Amino acid sequence: MTPILSVSDLKVQFGSAENGVRAVDDVSFALERGETLGIVGESGSGKSVTGLSLLRLISKPGRVIGGSILFDGRDLLAMDEKEIRSVRGREISMIFQDPMTSLNPVLTIGRQLTEILEVQGGLTPGQARTRAVELLALVGIPSPERRLGDYPHHFSGGMRQRVMIAIAVACRPKLLIADEPTTALDVTIQAQILDILKSLQKEIGMALILITHDLGIVAGMADRIAVMYGGRIVEEGPTDPVFEDPRMPYTVGLLRSTPRLDRPEERRLRPIRGLPVAPRGEARFCRFAPRCDLVEPVCTREAPQLEAAGAEGQRAACHFAERVPELLHTQEEAAQ
Ligand SMILES: Nc1ncnc2c1ncn2[C@@H]1O[C@H](COP(=O)(O)OP(=O)(O)OP(=O)(O)O)[C@@H](O)[C@H]1O
Ligand SMILES: [Mg+2]
Repeated sequence: MTPILSVSDLKVQFGSAENGVRAVDDVSFALERGETLGIVGESGSGKSVTGLSLLRLISKPGRVIGGSILFDGRDLLAMDEKEIRSVRGREISMIFQDPMTSLNPVLTIGRQLTEILEVQGGLTPGQARTRAVELLALVGIPSPERRLGDYPHHFSGGMRQRVMIAIAVACRPKLLIADEPTTALDVTIQAQILDILKSLQKEIGMALILITHDLGIVAGMADRIAVMYGGRIVEEGPTDPVFEDPRMPYTVGLLRSTPRLDRPEERRLRPIRGLPVAPRGEARFCRFAPRCDLVEPVCTREAPQLEAAGAEGQRAACHFAERVPELLHTQEEAAQ
């Protein structure tokens, strides 16, 4: 089966080619229908810019300077404004971190929902109203009929995020991009929102790209994980091997700096030393080298390519991908 989404060598630049930030650098990945891909990485690694490029929502001073995005057989980068507008919301939808900035504060929730159902979904006003009530019920909003007349500020943060989800899935998109959908919410509400996303995904059959810095969230949700660092995917593969047998020292660092509820007995948290830097120009070396415990001279001379390593379907961009587990083991023994 052909993937629903196939991204190849995507490059996004902010500012000039020499001095600007290469926010996304040669990113390639594919997504099957109904599949969930988790995109993880520290702040500034290019997760949101990757998501926004899929909807062609990068605006000045940013631009896509290379690559292709095939969605359901069509090249999104080659579409004119009118075509891409008909894809947005209808075939590809996005949920943003802060629902207050994406909901219109002066329109009722009912109006915002019925509008997209009428304009994008082609329903009559009567049908749109019925469907709007169904959608609010589907995302777990009590007394949906009555809530149609409420404005965004009448809802709590968690309820607003549910409304956002209802709007995003109103036209049964083939792909939903959720950018930190639960970051602003407390843990209980977070779990509820993730459950809603999961069950909607099953019902609609949509593929999901879940962008988050929280590895715990993607562990329970994603079929596959893409780890981003400095605008590049540095490791990618099925969730289990990426978590259990990572082949890129950056992934190892991320895992070690994240609390694991399932393994409380395991060693204390260790943050990755140093800070990420914004990537500029072409990558002629491994961007993680300055922070890497396993760094060797080759790492600062040559950029590693994303290549098969570890389990089937797993890829890592590290000159020592095959030896990462062994090298880390030796290092830990030496430290004891
Ligand atoms: N409008 C913009 N103008 C200039 N640079 C930008 C702009 N938007 C993003 N960038 C740069 O692109 C890079 C990637 O940003 P992006 O927002 O994708 O990071 P992120 O991984 O989503 O981080 P976070 O976890 O903080 O949301 C960063 O270095 C950022 O400074
Ligand atoms: Mg972001």
